[in-house]
Parts: sequence; structure tokens; C-alpha cells
Amino acid sequence: MPIYFDESTKTFNLFSRDMQYTMYIDKNDRLCHAYWGRKIKGLKIDHITDLYKMAYGPNLSLELLPQEYPAYGATDFRAPAYQVQFEDGSTVSDLKYTGHKIYNGKPKLDGMPATYVESDGEAQTLEIYLNDVVGKLGVTLTYTVFEKFQAITRSVKFKNESPQKIRILRALSASVDFEDDDFVMIQLSGAWARERHIVKRHLVSGIQSIESRRGASSHQQNPFIALAKKDTNESEGDVYGFSLVYSGNFLAQVEVGQYETARVSIGINPFDFSWLLEPLETFQTPETVITYSSEGFNGMSQTYHKLYRSRLARGKYRDMVRPILVNNWEATYFNFNEEKLLDIAKAAKAVGIELFVLDDGWFGRRDADNSSLGDWFVDRRKLPEGLNGLAKKINDIGLQFGLWIEPEMVSPNSDLYRLHPDWCIHVKGRERNLSRNQLVLDFSRQDVRDYMVETISKLLRSANISYVKWDMNRNMTEIGSDLLPDDRQRETAHRYILGLYNVIDVITSSFPDVLFESCAGGGGRFDPGMFYYMPQTWTSDDTDAMERLKIQYGTSYVYPQIMMGSHISDIPNHQVGRMTSIDARAHVVMSANMGFELDLTKLSSDEKSKIKAYISEYKKLRKLIQFGNFYRLLSPFDGNEAAWMIIDEEKNEFLLYHFKILGTPNSKSTRLRLKGISTEKNYKLEGTDEIYGGDELTFEGITIPHTLGDFKSVLMHFKSV
Ligand code: DGJ
Repeated sequence: MPIYFDESTKTFNLFSRDMQYTMYIDKNDRLCHAYWGRKIKGLKIDHITDLYKMAYGPNLSLELLPQEYPAYGATDFRAPAYQVQFEDGSTVSDLKYTGHKIYNGKPKLDGMPATYVESDGEAQTLEIYLNDVVGKLGVTLTYTVFEKFQAITRSVKFKNESPQKIRILRALSASVDFEDDDFVMIQLSGAWARERHIVKRHLVSGIQSIESRRGASSHQQNPFIALAKKDTNESEGDVYGFSLVYSGNFLAQVEVGQYETARVSIGINPFDFSWLLEPLETFQTPETVITYSSEGFNGMSQTYHKLYRSRLARGKYRDMVRPILVNNWEATYFNFNEEKLLDIAKAAKAVGIELFVLDDGWFGRRDADNSSLGDWFVDRRKLPEGLNGLAKKINDIGLQFGLWIEPEMVSPNSDLYRLHPDWCIHVKGRERNLSRNQLVLDFSRQDVRDYMVETISKLLRSANISYVKWDMNRNMTEIGSDLLPDDRQRETAHRYILGLYNVIDVITSSFPDVLFESCAGGGGRFDPGMFYYMPQTWTSDDTDAMERLKIQYGTSYVYPQIMMGSHISDIPNHQVGRMTSIDARAHVVMSANMGFELDLTKLSSDEKSKIKAYISEYKKLRKLIQFGNFYRLLSPFDGNEAAWMIIDEEKNEFLLYHFKILGTPNSKSTRLRLKGISTEKNYKLEGTDEIYGGDELTFEGITIPHTLGDFKSVLMHFKSV
């Protein structure tokens, strides 16, 4: 059993394979945090901490006490996990333990994405009931421990048990108190076209945080942070990961207190958020997934990869290899007709591509990005035989047909907007700022959601559509909703996300055979929340192979390869103007879900035959690539090279990737010491007669010969013999 409660010491212990998480109820019925890390036997609460003893000095000082879900208003001056306002205007509260329940399995989170179990034996759940006696506020902390993963999921439910209204001002999903601040904080930060770059900083006194106030999880900050002990590397050292299963505004922060403690908090961003609870109403926070690794960053990533791939992603495609696609966006942008698309499709079929995706520009009168979002009917000028006609022709060529949509948006120049100008997110009487010439539809409204579910469902039934790219190309401004009362306006952003989850839940479950890929101007909503509904995500609008090294390397900290769309595109690259070889582009793409995004009809026959060969190799390797275990070896953030490996679960087969960004003069070869393979086995390098011992590759390494030139790459395939 992974969860124990010891009645005599009032201690909860949560165990997974090599991890322990310990809490206890103190003499004042307060839920305190004791320990999180490797399993230890015989943990005694009074051995744990000096701070504990100091806290219970002549006056109770909560600032010294590690707590599980800290409140605001008493002697803890650090950031609280929650804050509420009662009808008398007061904002002070205090939670005391009232009971708990331990059971097998994991409950669903109402209306929100979350990890799940397929049988109750896979996990155990602990619910701890806390109460603010004066304000009659009930708070349930839910913890689930998975048998197989070094992960705990946490979420919180508030219940108004008073006859009066309670306003929630802050409701984070988790808070963890560490006794020291001897950590480096890791975050995945960036911008459009350079998402999820790894940023590391040493903790200092005060608050260090990342957040989104954009209405989406964002290109700029991913809803994830980690704390790593100093000197932690990819395979050694303690790492604590915090990943929020949410696609909207979030906050993740670490506060270093006056006694060099570190408090991590993560959840919905309290900025411009509040939620009114009527008597007996409840509020559920999103889930956060916390992980512990004693095996450095690779250990952390593999826990997230396996858990998210197998118990967050859902549906028919979860365990299926994904099709190789060609998308017409960078090939044509808005300028296409049926003939052009069919030419691309024929060229795609000839090289072995399996799915043709029609991107933006097929609907309304959309010849540029300044019109027609909301008008989801086909533009007969471009596609005279409609979507159905085109899909049939694509199918006849021997490809599946996929379609791009952006259902959350509306162009002011559209029939939908002319009919319903109040259907967008806006504040009455204020300017509606455009971004990419568009506004955001108000998915907090039931009528807007109903309309969109019906419209998109009709569209998906109108042709043989096997794949959908669900895009979202702007952040929210002037956030407000016409239908919410004044005192609930600050609920809009969260209600939008709940509404979005509802819409995509209905649509994805009504079309279980359609493969959905989420997208937000590239990777602007690349988060676990979207992964629950859509089993792959367009990683970034930046398709340059060298830029992708950083983007895909950073993304791999939390997210598995099978989630990442990666496309071979044209040179000079459209985002950075760089010329890279087809080999380098192919090797980057062959680390994730392969696709193409260029006009295949314009390639030379030499380029086409190279592409054909790579596609056929990818087909042989794709199960390994999409479902294998990912190990990072060399970071493009640390130098001029990048390297990683993908290894099957049984360690019988692996791929080794090496990239050298710029050519260097008069330099030696690179030696890579491999990770994750069996030191007992021997491995043959495919395509040669060379056999290497797994121990040799692990301890002595393998030489990557020095070659001249920029943007060089190598992909080696080894099989055990
Ligand atoms: C942003 C996406 O990331 C692109 O791939 C493309 O679909 C455009 N939107 C189309 O407007």
C-alpha cells in the first residue's frame, strides 16, 4: 500500500518506488509538511527540523513551520496557498484538520483535465479534510500516488459551508515547503518561435516567479518549474518537478524566507482572478503533478514522459504510432487552389507521406489573416468542389485528409461578428484591441460554446476528415464577459478555460477516430491540459533545424517526443533565413512526430529521393522514436553541440543523435558517454559490422568524428546482439 496513516504519531506517509512524502498533524491540528525525497526508514518527526522546535517557542511562529497548505493572516508572512474574503470583508483564515480518507484508485477532476488510472490498483488516493471553523470554509486536499511513477498529483477543492457568500481570491493547487534554499530553479521560457528554452537561476532571498496573464499557458512561460540541488546534472542529483495540468493563467513561484527556507507554490494565477462561492458551492483547482528524481533531470523527465504519455493522453491514438503528414502552410500560406493542393498531395504520396493537412485559408474569404474567422464554411473560389470534394481526391491519391481550424477566434470582418458583436471577450465601452486582426470568442458563455460545438461538429461530418489541427493565435486582452454579473467579471479567464475544456471534450469524444493536434501560434499552449484532450501538439512555428534543437531539448524536460510535432521545411528557413542540409533537418524531425511543411513539387529529384529514404527509415524506427525513453546527453544551451538518445524499454535498441551547430577549426572529435543502455549487452551499429559493449559505450563512450562545416548531424542506430 503506498499510503499509510500512523494514528499514534498522526503521520501520513506516501510512497512510490523510491520516493517518500511525509506530512503530519501537529498538536494544534494543523497539517504540516515533514519530508519529501528518497525513501527512508523510521522517519521521526521530531528529528526532522530545528525549525519545528523554534516554531513552537513562547509564541507560535508559523513562519518557521513547514506547512502543506498555508493560510493568510496569522504568523506566517510568506505567500499563502489560498486566500478568501468573507462577507464581513475579512480576509484572514486558518485551516485545521478534521479527517481524512485513503482509497484505491484516483477520482476524476470535474470538468478539468487530469492524470487517470485504468484500474484502481494503479494508484492510491488520500483526501485530507481541513476546515476554517470561524468562516465555515471546507478545504479538501487530494493526493494521489502512482505505484509505477515517482509522482504525486495534488489538487484542492473548496466548499462554502456557511450561509453567506465567500469570495476566493487565491486558490493554488499545491504548496511545498523545503527546509533549505540550496537549489537552482529551472523554468522553460521564451517567446513566439523560441518556446521553452531552459533557464536556470540560483534561489535568492524573496520571491522568484514565472506566470502567465495572457489567458493561455503561453509561449513566454510554460506551467512548470523544478528545483534541483546544486551540481545536479542529467543523470545525478535531486530534482523536484512541478507541472500544472492547466492551459490558462498560472503562477509558479519560489519564496525564500528569512530562515533560508524555500516555499514552492503553483496554480491558477491569482492576478485578476476571484471566484464567488454561494453557500454549498464548491471550487475545484487544476491538478498539479509533482515529481522527485534522485537521478537528475533525465530521471525527472522520464517520469513525466511515461506518466503523461500513458495516463494523461487518452483515446484511440494514445498507443498508436502517428502518421507522417504534410502541411501546406509554409508551402502556400493563403495562396492556394485545389490544383496546387493536389499537386502537393501527389508529390507527398510519391515519397511515402500518409496524411495531407490543409492549413489556414480554406474558409470564408480568407486571403490574408484579416478576415473570416468564425465563418466556418468552405471558400468555393479556392475549392470549387468543397471540402468533401477535396478530401475525396486526397483519399483517392492514397492519403488521409486533415484540416486546420481556429474555433476560439473571430475576425471583426466576418459574418459571425457582424451577427454577434457581443460574443467576444471584451469590456463594455472599452476598446477591443486586435491581435493578428482577431478577437477571442467568449467561451465562458454557454450559447457561444453550443454554437461552436454544433458548427465544428457539422464541419467534421461534412467530409472524410481524419485529423484536425486546432489552432489559437492570440492572447486575451480587455478580459470581461457580457453575461457575467459585475462581481464575477474576474472569473472570466478561468471560466473561458473551463468552457474551452468542455468544448474540446465534447468534440474530441464525438469524433474518436479523428487525430487532434493542438496548436497556439506554434507552442503557445503546449501544456499538460491540452495534452489530455489532444494527443499531439505543434511544438513551435519555428521550423529551423538549429532553432529546433533548443526548442525540442527544452520541451523534453517535461513532455514526451510523441507529443511534439516537428516538420521538415524549406531553405532558406522562413523564420531565420538559415540554410541547413536535408540531413540535419531530417535528424531533428526524426526525434519527434515527423511532418513536412514545404512545397514538395519544387524539390529536385535528388532531394526527393533523400526525403523518401528518410521517410522509409522513420517508418521503421517510429515506434521506437515515438514511444522510446529519451535521454539528453549534451545541451545546446551549454555549447555548440547537442546530443540525445532514444532507447526502447527493454534496452535492446537505441538511437543516438548528435548535432554540431557551427564548424570549429583545429578541434578534436567529440566523445559521448551513453546513458540508459544495458552495460551487460553488446550493441551492433546498424549499417556496419561494428559491435560495441554496452559497458564500453557507457563508461568509455563513442567517438563522433570531427567533420568540417556548419549544422552537422549524425544519427546512429544500435541493436543488441
Ligand atoms: C499558427 C500556426 O502555428 C501555423 O502552423 C499556422 O497554422 C498558422 N497559425 C495559420 O494561421
